[in-house]
Amino acid sequence: MTTSPATQNLTRAIRGRVLHFLRDPQFHDDAYQYWEDGVLIVTAGRITAAGDYAQLADRIPAGAQVIDHRGKLIVPGFIDTHVHYPQTDIIASPSPGLLHWLDTYTFPEERRFSEPAYAAGVAGFFADELLRNGTTSAMVWSTVHAASAEALFAESERRNMRMITGKVLMDRNCPEFLRDTAETGVQESADLLSRWHGRGRLAYAITPRFAPTSTDAQLAACGELASAHPDAYIQTHVAENRDEVKWAAELFPTARSYLDVYDRHGLLRPGAFYGHAIYLDQDDRKRLADSGAAVAHCPTSNLFLGSGFYDFHESDANRLHLTLATDVGGGTSFSMLRTMNAAHKVARMGGYHLSALRMFFLATRGAAEALGWADRIGSFAIGNEADFIVLDPAATPLLARRSERAATLEEQLFAFAMLGDDRVIDTVYVMGETAGAGAATAAKIAVH
Ligand code: GUN
Ligand code: ZN
Repeated sequence: MTTSPATQNLTRAIRGRVLHFLRDPQFHDDAYQYWEDGVLIVTAGRITAAGDYAQLADRIPAGAQVIDHRGKLIVPGFIDTHVHYPQTDIIASPSPGLLHWLDTYTFPEERRFSEPAYAAGVAGFFADELLRNGTTSAMVWSTVHAASAEALFAESERRNMRMITGKVLMDRNCPEFLRDTAETGVQESADLLSRWHGRGRLAYAITPRFAPTSTDAQLAACGELASAHPDAYIQTHVAENRDEVKWAAELFPTARSYLDVYDRHGLLRPGAFYGHAIYLDQDDRKRLADSGAAVAHCPTSNLFLGSGFYDFHESDANRLHLTLATDVGGGTSFSMLRTMNAAHKVARMGGYHLSALRMFFLATRGAAEALGWADRIGSFAIGNEADFIVLDPAATPLLARRSERAATLEEQLFAFAMLGDDRVIDTVYVMGETAGAGAATAAKIAVH
């Protein structure tokens, strides 16, 4: 699936309904560009033009491959900012809540990732499952084992995917078989970072699981590693569940808040992603926004584990850097469309209207901006890497009927978000090449 030498310099023109975002439609007019009969021109895996087909037809060079997806919607590949690949096989495990779920299903499963062959098997399935769902990039959790991160990096590289992961750090309050130490955890992280961060399309995230499973010494060591590598990512969980928040307060009695535990150790900055972030106060929100760190909102997980409702009013009022994430296996679907469905309903429960345009922004350009990668992925800006997906508005009989009635772009996107899932993902392109097991497409291919 990596670009083969024979096709590396090939130009492709991909024709269809083309949509991408320039900025957040919640706060700006002119936030997106949409061409009903649009085209993307891709050379050597990068976008060279995006626009109206009639206007760009002259610029399609002789010999280019023209792929006809007319009637279908082409958008940048989805970006999932918080997902645990080692939890793939314990998705949908019944539990009364987060801490029970971790002890009963998650930790025993994560133990198995000390075995490189086991990790490689799950990592390969996981990467294919992301692609099948139209997710071309993700910030992924591995386990405490360095081998688990190695496995995901290797499988991502084989598929030429732009991906981020890191080994988990936990030096207390977890089973002995998943425990590292303040020293070894950071040493192993530094070693992985030096070998994988910036290699091809891969990047490293320093990954303390959450404050309750790290000592102050381990969090301090994470902060030191982060300051030595200002362009490395950071990911963790914060304020997800009431019992967890109470536990964190008991373990860190001098901290002002749960978020403050991370702040004291220099872990709030651009490129740091905080999963859940439900139980925050005003000081926390202000600090999160000012620091440039992002929130990974995980609505299917928050509903499934009964964790709580994310406050979209407060999030917007404080201009938090919001992204959307599946959080599989606490989350119940790999599909960013299903994740939008849940996000919309969570927002509604708080009296907030989350538009489909905004959700598509959040799942594409919004995430790319939070990653500092808006000049690489998430939109069809000239020079960006050509990761994009084709959505079929007639993928199911019901969606076909509703799409027929869609009077506006918002209505069409909303139908995708409410009725869609992996069935809607018609074709996936990674660096301009069709990718994934479901790459067979009914599109017509011609030579220009
Ligand atoms: N908090 C600490 N670890 C986890 C995890 O694996 N999943 C979720 N949802 N929350 C966590
Ligand atoms: Zn998580």
